[in-house]
Amino acid sequence: MAGLSTSSLDLTHRPRRLRRAEWTRRLVRENVVTTNDLIWPIFIIEGQGKREPVGSMPGVERLSVDEAVRAAVQARDLGIPALALFPNTDPGLRNETGSEALNENNLVCRAVRAIVAEVPEIGVMTDVALDPYTSHGQDGLMVGDEIVNDETIEVLIGQSLNQARAGCHIIAPSDMMDGRIGAIRGALDGQGFEHVQIMAYAAKYASAFYGPFREAVGSGGLLRGDKRTYQMDPANSDEAIREVALDLEQGADMVMVKPGMPYLDICRRVKDEFGAPTFAYQVSGEYAMIMAAVERGWLDHDKAVMESLIAFKRAGCDGVLTYFAPFIAEKLARGG
Ligand code: PBG
Repeated sequence: MAGLSTSSLDLTHRPRRLRRAEWTRRLVRENVVTTNDLIWPIFIIEGQGKREPVGSMPGVERLSVDEAVRAAVQARDLGIPALALFPNTDPGLRNETGSEALNENNLVCRAVRAIVAEVPEIGVMTDVALDPYTSHGQDGLMVGDEIVNDETIEVLIGQSLNQARAGCHIIAPSDMMDGRIGAIRGALDGQGFEHVQIMAYAAKYASAFYGPFREAVGSGGLLRGDKRTYQMDPANSDEAIREVALDLEQGADMVMVKPGMPYLDICRRVKDEFGAPTFAYQVSGEYAMIMAAVERGWLDHDKAVMESLIAFKRAGCDGVLTYFAPFIAEKLARGG
């Protein structure tokens, strides 16, 4: 190009100098993903020795309780700190009030008891919300078209205590009702469960990226209407800060932003504002997007997955709920 003389370049600083070899790139690397950052979500079904593929999540299977125990053993051996359990409830057990959530022998409680008994080293987290149990697929009770807040909280308290009695270590309310963290904390403490942790789905958006999850737990086809009267508007950012502040004031030990990749700005704001243990949920749709492109040969699986994970660390997350957890842990165990 005429006119660009090398003498006009300022090369006092050559940032490329630090990128010339792997050893120097390693030396100046700011963030790392470790196995300690991972929570592995798994889907539970009835039966024995059953593994059922989830069509929209290639590589993910729904597991019967005994298979979930095997997954827990695998997770422990890989060093994954915790599992998050999601039941696919028999359609015949779903009703208007989600009453199966309160059954001490429901699927998720049986899975918790089995895993805690056989793999005591691993942390077990359970979702608190009514959508796996309601015939309308909403996270709360419906009166007419309204998802009613305060009445739902009464049931969520019962659900939390039910799961705590089964032995779960982390209660994760994902329903986005107002005031539920304080109510659940009070109830847990009142029943001697003061050591049970709460991870609040604090900034959970009304997102299209949950589609494959709803297929996995069987609530998608049932869902009447949408969840926009309780999950957050994707357009909002300051509101996420207010939501997280409320959940921390009410006693949340850890907070979560969900989905993950489309909301990295929220992760960073939450971490900067509160400095609390902050998690992101790399949700089913994020998993599906990567896997669909991989299946078409459009993305390199290993590189795309690892890059998606480092993005969460860069955004300030302490950990990530991800369906890629076993893959990542295995890869790290082999030396990255
Ligand atoms: C249920 C719940 C959802 C997810 C976790 N808990 C779906 C929803 O709110 O409809 C989504 C997780 C994923 O997409 O991977 N309250």
